[in-house]
Amino acid sequence: MVILLILLLLPIAFFLPCGAWAGEIIGGQEAKPHSRPYMAYLEIQRKGKMYICGGFLVSENFVLTAAHCKGDEITVYLGAHNIKQQEQSQQKISVDHQIIHPKYNKKTLNNDIMLLQLEERAKLNRWVDTITLPRANETVKPGTMCSVAGWGNTRTECLLFPDTLQEVDVVVMKDAECPKKRKGPYHNYNASTMMCVGDPAQCKDSSQGDSGGPLVCGKTAQGIVSWGPCRAPGVYTRVSTFIRWIEKTMRKLQP
Ligand SMILES: *[C@@H]1O[C@H](CO)[C@@H](O)[C@H](O)[C@H]1NC(C)=O
Ligand SMILES: *[C@@H]1O[C@H](CO)[C@@H](O)[C@H](O)[C@H]1NC(C)=O
Repeated sequence: MVILLILLLLPIAFFLPCGAWAGEIIGGQEAKPHSRPYMAYLEIQRKGKMYICGGFLVSENFVLTAAHCKGDEITVYLGAHNIKQQEQSQQKISVDHQIIHPKYNKKTLNNDIMLLQLEERAKLNRWVDTITLPRANETVKPGTMCSVAGWGNTRTECLLFPDTLQEVDVVVMKDAECPKKRKGPYHNYNASTMMCVGDPAQCKDSSQGDSGGPLVCGKTAQGIVSWGPCRAPGVYTRVSTFIRWIEKTMRKLQP
């Protein structure tokens, strides 16, 4: 898993050869269509290039994602399964305001969280719906099985972007599994704002392009795909730390 977003403008063929198509997130599978109606696909324009991220709908007009997904312009697709098709279920909405956490640090990726205010309210229906946020400061016990979904890279040995939403089960690890050793890959790990997720013994992870997507435990969005070294565990933003900020920000911007 890599924090960098992926340049989509390069033809996909540039990244080949990829071997046989296996269709994972990494180690995952295609999600049942529309089983995650809160999922948002973000198309990000930044300095003339296009990137993708995930996100999730938390109210009719706000999507939560990672701060490092910011761009000059963002378009949100809700209700999508196959992002390369114009599905009846899809709602395409421009982003009006990108509200990055005031303490976001782009070097350490601390406080990697951003609210997107949509230009118009999403129509909630069976394909598009919100997801519940955790209570303030709620913690998730190590060993809890959660899942992550996205349209990001599905292969470890090369880059391959799937058309359809992929999902994978991942386990929440102890903070000590992302050790803050100097010069180690996790030296910027901060247990108060981040979660350590994914068993290194299993080849399952989120990847490039999945950034900003939700880590779902039960029915709650506990984490946001943020950063990590090339293999699990990966680091997720700890959503429960930011509940106050999320509520305050949404209230302030509500017309
Ligand atoms: C959550 O933790 C923060 C920092 O420790 C604290 O200031 C805040 O009061 C806590 N919120 C709740 C609802 O417990
Ligand atoms: C962890 O993040 C919190 C919130 O931004 C910050 O106050 C604290 O100083 C950070 N800890 C370290 C060791 O960087």
